[in-house]
Amino acid sequence: MLGGCRGPLSVLDPAGPSAGAIAQVWWWMFGVAVAVLVLMVVLGALAMRGRRGGQGEDAGADAHRFPGDGARQRRIARRCLIGGGLLLPGVAITALLVFGSPAGFHQLPWPGAAAAPLRVEVTGHQWWWEVHYPDTGQRLRNELRLPAGRAVDVHTRSADVIHGFWVPRLGGKLDAVPGRTLVVRLQADRPGTYRGVCAEFCGAGHAHMPMVVQAMPAEDFDAWLNASPAAARTPRPPAVAAAFAQEAGR
Ligand code: CUA
Repeated sequence: MLGGCRGPLSVLDPAGPSAGAIAQVWWWMFGVAVAVLVLMVVLGALAMRGRRGGQGEDAGADAHRFPGDGARQRRIARRCLIGGGLLLPGVAITALLVFGSPAGFHQLPWPGAAAAPLRVEVTGHQWWWEVHYPDTGQRLRNELRLPAGRAVDVHTRSADVIHGFWVPRLGGKLDAVPGRTLVVRLQADRPGTYRGVCAEFCGAGHAHMPMVVQAMPAEDFDAWLNASPAAARTPRPPAVAAAFAQEAGR
């Protein structure tokens, strides 16, 4: 069960502020859900005990268990309905909104970031990722390079069907939709290698659209970004996509 708490694709092991905000919301949701579960189990156990206590008595016993007869019972039932059915969900959803909205804002390309965010265009194809750096023209396949410690605005698109761009340790998931450009802001606090996946079923090769995400020290990244595209490009043929394309006779 705890296996999901770590690893290259774990949302619970965030490596930047966008992903950190999501993890925080997750822990709040988990805590509230556990508290509600415990409350319901306790109430359920109490209810069953109460019912067992009433067994063996005569038919009118239920009405006499509460002094003041069925009217009080109805009042208690009404309070439970209002409290458990309206008040509790209302409070829980409002609290989630209050905690969740700032996490959502972290994923959006708001102006006012400390350093100007880097712009990267990521296009989903069946079944590989095309990564383009419009500032200098660099292109990569199935690999995303980022400067560590700087916000990166990923502009997602699709060349065919809907794909899902997701680097769980760096930020939120965003669908790559044909005909639209959607933007998610990622950031890696430290240099390192992270992983991304396609998180939206997009055909036979969907499970084979992984992406390697390299967060590089800022100066290394700048050197790579500004090198001549021909020299810096890492030609990595998308083996899986090619195999599927061949199979499909294209
Ligand atoms: Cu692309 Cu799933």
